[in-house]
Amino acid sequence: MAEVNRQWRLVRRVEGMPSVEDWRLVEAPVPTVEPGTFLARAIYLDVAPYMRARIAAVRNYARGVEPGEVMIGGAVARIVASRAPGWKEGELVVTDFGFGWQDYALLRPEAVRRVDPTLAPPETWLDVMGLNGVTAWFALFETGALRPGDRVLISAAAGSVGQLAGQLARLAGAVPYAVASTAAKIAWCREIGFEGGIAHRDCEDLAGAIRAMLPNGVDLYVDNTAGPIHDAVLQNLAPRARIVVVGTVSLADRLGRPDIGPRFFREILVARARIEGFLVLDFEKRWGEAWARLAELLRAGRIVTRYDVADGLERTPEAFLRVLRGDNLGKQLVRVSAG
Ligand SMILES: NC(=O)c1ccc[n+]([C@@H]2O[C@H](COP(=O)([O-])OP(=O)(O)OC[C@H]3O[C@@H](n4cnc5c(N)ncnc54)[C@H](OP(=O)(O)O)[C@@H]3O)[C@@H](O)[C@H]2O)c1
Repeated sequence: MAEVNRQWRLVRRVEGMPSVEDWRLVEAPVPTVEPGTFLARAIYLDVAPYMRARIAAVRNYARGVEPGEVMIGGAVARIVASRAPGWKEGELVVTDFGFGWQDYALLRPEAVRRVDPTLAPPETWLDVMGLNGVTAWFALFETGALRPGDRVLISAAAGSVGQLAGQLARLAGAVPYAVASTAAKIAWCREIGFEGGIAHRDCEDLAGAIRAMLPNGVDLYVDNTAGPIHDAVLQNLAPRARIVVVGTVSLADRLGRPDIGPRFFREILVARARIEGFLVLDFEKRWGEAWARLAELLRAGRIVTRYDVADGLERTPEAFLRVLRGDNLGKQLVRVSAG
């Protein structure tokens, strides 16, 4: 075991677009294992859009990271020393939030789930078998009230939530369409079963392009981005459309400031549409049922997911910024150790 624990600590609460200077890499002692805890070493660290709001100075649904604290984040990790009954050295665990951007964390059993690598490979436990899996599931089937035949538009469609939501929609008999930044991302979406897609970075008239692709409108919009993509979709709603606001990643550089854009409010009335905010934590009691089904689908090869892996703890802030810039294709992770 190494003698130091490298940690990324937050330097300041961030306004505007974060940069790598907003964190500092420090060396701390590896924690001592207390009774009832175990020490785990990170294999994969998670980086995800929700972290943007946790370092902002504005109101959020959860507590933020204070300057000087280790940056929040989940990990797939291996237990290297244990004084918690029933948790053995060598076992794999996953934390959704409570590991932090560091090599080692002292954890309590109630803060982790066991990783069963025979059920699904380790990296999937921060993706399909993690929060994003249950996000795609409940956003579609509960909040989105998905019905067979629905034309489902998904933004950030080649990302972690997006790629899964598209495949689940297809498996449920709906027809998924993608919006993503580049042609390469749209090509990936088509490969995994999306009916069509639009690369928004090259598109001058996104609302028009959506209309051309979906002349009868969008029945269900899984909104991962907010911003101009949301505005374009609002001009293309089918009657009784549902808009599930899953994420607002396009606001990463202006959290807490008014999100100013064209306003198409009357479209809500005309379509008798419903917009609803979604928070995966609201479904916590039911995550297990969704993961059981998702594991079956993964094992059967009926869903596939792509990963974008940065190597080395020192690259963690940069990997996070890749997600905010849309440089990732598939689920962005950081590989910290061989495991
Ligand atoms: N509400 C919840 O409970 C919950 C839970 C999990 C995740 N989420 C949300 O789900 C969304 C997807 O998360 P994820 O982990 O799967 O991330 P992801 O989609 O793998 O990565 C983020 C993607 O956002 C897109 N993006 C970044 N900046 C953008 C901009 N300015 N305009 C438009 N798109 C932009 C990029 O895709 P393109 O290159 O295609 O633009 C990027 O690849 C996020 O908004 C996240 O906050 C919400």
